[in-house]
Amino acid sequence: MGFHTFDPSRADRLEDVSRYRFCSREELLGALDAGSGTDDHLIDLGSGTGFYTADLAPFFGRVSAVDIQAEMHELFRENGVPDNVDLVESSTDSLPLGDGAADAAVSTMTAHEIPLASTLTDLRRVLAPDSPVVVVDWSADGRGEAGPPRDERHDADFVADAFTEAGFSVEVATERGETFSIRARS
Ligand SMILES: C[S@@+](CC[C@H](N)C(=O)[O-])C[C@H]1O[C@@H](n2cnc3c(N)ncnc32)[C@H](O)[C@@H]1O
Repeated sequence: MGFHTFDPSRADRLEDVSRYRFCSREELLGALDAGSGTDDHLIDLGSGTGFYTADLAPFFGRVSAVDIQAEMHELFRENGVPDNVDLVESSTDSLPLGDGAADAAVSTMTAHEIPLASTLTDLRRVLAPDSPVVVVDWSADGRGEAGPPRDERHDADFVADAFTEAGFSVEVATERGETFSIRARS
């Protein structure tokens, strides 16, 4: 399993626009090959209040916003769920989606909370071949000036190895100031 699950009573922190300092809509769209828009089905693993999900939704045909906590989906509803977003209450490692049902996946600031190996195994099942996956999260190699304690985080190498172990091809694994970014293909 991962580390502690995000406390919904602190969810206002997820709506703070200063978060774009650590991860932007544009970097996610670029890494997901979304360009100016696509009809593809995107999965957001650990969607929370929908802060990034709602940013990305206009660039995809359909989005499955997966979160294990009903409280987080309720907060997303209060913020307004775009018409093409399905709220999926599930753990990331048992996705209620068919084999090859999706074309892309994203996960922001969540990799340290989820059971990573089993999540990536199930994600590979539900993605069509050659689908892009982008994971951005707080890094164990970061400065620790923002985000969860460093001893609760993974680093880029650890997550890249987990992708490889699950059968993905890792294209980019980058350490940044406080976060890491992984781009892989199914
Ligand atoms: C730190 S929040 C990030 C939310 C969102 N990705 C963002 O960047 O605003 C992590 C989210 O992952 C969800 N989560 C934790 N473990 C999960 C699991 N096993 N399956 C699905 N969601 C999970 C939590 O409920 C929480 O909403």
